[in-house]
Order: sequence, then C-alpha cells, then structure tokens
Amino acid sequence: MTLRAVVRGVGHYLPSRVVENAEFEATLDTSDEWIRARSGIERRHFATEDDTTSSMATAAAQSALEDAGLGPEDIDAIVLATSTADLTFPSAATMVQDKLGMTHGFAFDVQAVCAGFVYALANANALIVSGQAKRVIVIGAETFSKIMDWTDRRTCVLFGDGAGALVLEGQEGAGTTDDRGILATDLNSDGRHRDLLYVDGGVSTGTSGYLRMQGNQVFRHAVEKLAATAETAMERAGVTADEVDWIVPHQANIRIIQGTAKKMGIGMDKVVVTVQDHGNTSAASIPLAMSVGRKNGQIKDGDLLVTEAIGGGLAWGSVVLRW
Ligand code: UT7
Repeated sequence: MTLRAVVRGVGHYLPSRVVENAEFEATLDTSDEWIRARSGIERRHFATEDDTTSSMATAAAQSALEDAGLGPEDIDAIVLATSTADLTFPSAATMVQDKLGMTHGFAFDVQAVCAGFVYALANANALIVSGQAKRVIVIGAETFSKIMDWTDRRTCVLFGDGAGALVLEGQEGAGTTDDRGILATDLNSDGRHRDLLYVDGGVSTGTSGYLRMQGNQVFRHAVEKLAATAETAMERAGVTADEVDWIVPHQANIRIIQGTAKKMGIGMDKVVVTVQDHGNTSAASIPLAMSVGRKNGQIKDGDLLVTEAIGGGLAWGSVVLRW
C-alpha cells in the first residue's frame, strides 16, 4: 500500500469586477487586438475594495471544503501559494486559518510566484505522505492588481486577481499509476534569471513596489522548461503522454500553453484553458483552471492530469496527479 495525497474537493473565487481588454485603450497605447493576439487574454477580474488575498483565499477554501463535504475541523494544515500576501507578515495562510474559524493545526505561505501552486502542491504532498497531516487545504491566491504599474502597457494588461483551492486527503493506494492522487512532482529554480521578472519593492525599499518583466525573455525560457519539467514528472510517475487526460497549465499566455502542449505531443483538446477569462493570476491560475475545468465537466473522476508552471525566480515545476 502507498499513501497518496488525493483531491477531495476543489473551489474558487473571482472578484466581481471584470475588466475587458478594451478598457485599457482609454489610458494606454494598446488595443484589444494586440492583447488577444499576443497573450490570448480577453478579460480579467480585479479585486474590489472588499477583496484581499486572504479574503479571496478564504472564499476559495470554503468552496473547496463544501465540495469535499468537510469542515475546517477536519483540516490539519493550510498551505497558501501567494506573492501578494495582505501584509509582509503574518502569512496570509494564518489569516485564512482565522477567517475559517480554525484554531488547531498549522498554516503557512509558499512564495514561488507563478510556480507557487505547484510548489504548494508538492509541499502538501510531502506533509501528507510523511504522515504530518491527513488533510491539507492547498490554495493559490493573488491580488496582482496591487503591484501593477498602470502606465506600463507591457505588464498591466496581462495580470488578474483571484483564488483557487484544493482539499487534499491522505488515502491508501495500491502503489500503481491507477492510484488516485499525486503520483509525482518536479520542482526547479534558477536565481540567475531573477532580473527577468521581479517586483521593485519590499523591505529593502520600504514600498510594496511594482512588477517588472522582460516578457519576451521569460517567454523564451517558458516552453522549453515547462515541457522538460512535465516530462520529468511524467517519467517519475511512470505515465506517458497518450495516457494524459488533461494538461492544466499555468495560464500566462495562450502561445506558451500551445507551444508546451505541442512539445509534449498532446493536443489542445486535452488542455484546460482559462487565460482568456482570467488573465495571468500567478499562483492562483492553476487551481482556478482546475476548479473551472471540474465544474464545466472537463475533469472527471479518475482523469490523469499534468500541471506545470513557471514564473519569477525563475522558478518552475510540474505535478502529475490522478483526480
Ligand atoms: O506568469 C509568469 C511568467 N510570465 C510569462 O510567462 C509571460 C511571458 N511573456 C509573454 O507572455 C509575452 O512575451 C508578452 C505577452 C509579455 C509579450 O509578447 P511578445 O510577443 O513577447 O511581445 P514583445 O514583448 O516582444 O513586444 C513586441 C512589441 C514591442 O514593440 P516594439 O519594441 O517591437 O516596437 C512592445 O513595445 O509589442 C509592444 N507592446 C505592446 N503593444 C501594444 C508590448 N506591450 C504592448 C501592449 N500593447 N500592451
């Protein structure tokens, strides 16, 4: 028997404010046509005055708990992937813990920017298979609208806000690729590339700063590194491309999503795509896509998923799991 971290519930939250590409035309030298053609993005949600990273994360967690048929009392740990926590500290995860009314267990943030959810999944998997936690809520939540330079057309049209969450539960499997749950993970980073995507603020500047990105340089790394990490995780899991039911990629750019799927030898009919409606929500993009894909009937019980992401650091990685 092999202990596996199995998905028991999924949920998400999107702020009510929807901004179409055309809205940027009033203030920037840009166009709906450019944004769609270069990124695949059509619209995104931005936090309202009532939304914070921890409030959106809590709403997503509550939705995932409901889907799982569980309450906060059943949860041992909260792992929250975010680069836009409400405060420098305490962690947004402990704020979620409080908002859920959970006074036991433990909670912490994982900061790996757009790869954050993959890192959080790998951490939660390790907690479960090592016996430190039986049930873990894994959340990706971001308020990137707070770190946008609204005069920089190269970045501010690309990002959005939101949150998604999974409830993972330790269950015994047979130790084969037919098991439900996380079958393999692969994590990587290379700090030499940190200048390609960063926020120019923090404790060293006394400001929260703005996102800066050399988009075309990140793009160059993306397809190759994403396909490589997915292949490594698939090899570790012992599965092949023809067995994959769904790629659930980080939703940064439709051209990166298409290029990676092609390199992996998997058709776009097997890719969950939400980038058109959410933009790039960093660590929230994968759980948002999982939740949407589950609710619209794409992802079914027993489906084999490969999820992959890359972002600031550079940090990248992949998880193979059977739903
Ligand atoms: O999630 C974290 C990881 N991040 C990513 O994965 C993002 C990766 N990068 C990308 O998605 C793409 O590189 C972008 C969507 C950011 C940009 O697409 P691109 O095809 O790489 O364009 P580019 O940066 O090479 O820019 C092409 C042109 C430039 O003009 P010149 O220098 O050729 O005259 C830009 O100034 O497009 C211009 N441009 C714009 N034009 C209209 C840049 N942003 C805009 C804009 N509207 N919003």
